[in-house]
Amino acid sequence: MRKQIAAANWKMNLTAAQAHTLTHALCTSNPAVEDNRLVILGVPFPYIPMALSVAGATKGFAIAAQNCYHKKSGAYTGEVSVEMLASMQVEYVIIGHSERREYFNEDHAVLAEKVNLCLAGGVKPIFCCGEPLSIREAGTQNVFTETQLRESLFHLSAEQLTGFVIAYEPIWAIGTGKTASSEQAQEMHAHIRSVFAGQYGATVADSISILYGGSVKAANATELFGKPDVDGGLVGGASLVAEEFTTIINSLQ
Ligand code: PGA
Repeated sequence: MRKQIAAANWKMNLTAAQAHTLTHALCTSNPAVEDNRLVILGVPFPYIPMALSVAGATKGFAIAAQNCYHKKSGAYTGEVSVEMLASMQVEYVIIGHSERREYFNEDHAVLAEKVNLCLAGGVKPIFCCGEPLSIREAGTQNVFTETQLRESLFHLSAEQLTGFVIAYEPIWAIGTGKTASSEQAQEMHAHIRSVFAGQYGATVADSISILYGGSVKAANATELFGKPDVDGGLVGGASLVAEEFTTIINSLQ
């Protein structure tokens, strides 16, 4: 059975003290993290050691970085490699978030390099995709999103994609308070799964956890996660509030 995942993306928020308080609160709130459920905290680089020491031993919790560099190592001042993350036992890394694509010009090829380094280095990618508003209004969101997947992931083997994590995040719903309806989310998630099924077969497609991201909150999580192809969420704003995020964790199916 594929994993149901509540992933937090703190982005560039919180001081060290706030991050510690939030992590501690989440771990002690007794969220229902059963065997097929997983909580991933996507924290800023400097807070990784804290997150690992506070949440690392909590059942069903894992830590993610929010980015990594697309080169293995060397003279890239200020960057963080997959090897560094792996050496700290960081299990996941968010790849291709729309903010990275937009503000840091990360294209399909760079993202493919990042994914390759992650898989070679033993850090699991959470690969983000999703369309801007203009594409949604033109009705071409399926082909747009499919292209993002094809260009950065379809060189991988079926084995490498088994149990993979995708986050579908329509850009028009990120941080805007405008959530995609659960029907819109389900429609796209089913499309994404069918694209993987067409290329790799149903067994691989069914093993992939497809998270929805874009204004997920306590009030809409149950409705979204109730859809058959929505396997949890990648949560920004609402993951910064312990009670909100705990409710979201408890809304996993
Ligand atoms: P949001 O962000 O939940 O604040 O909309 C989601 C994301 O960007 O991952």
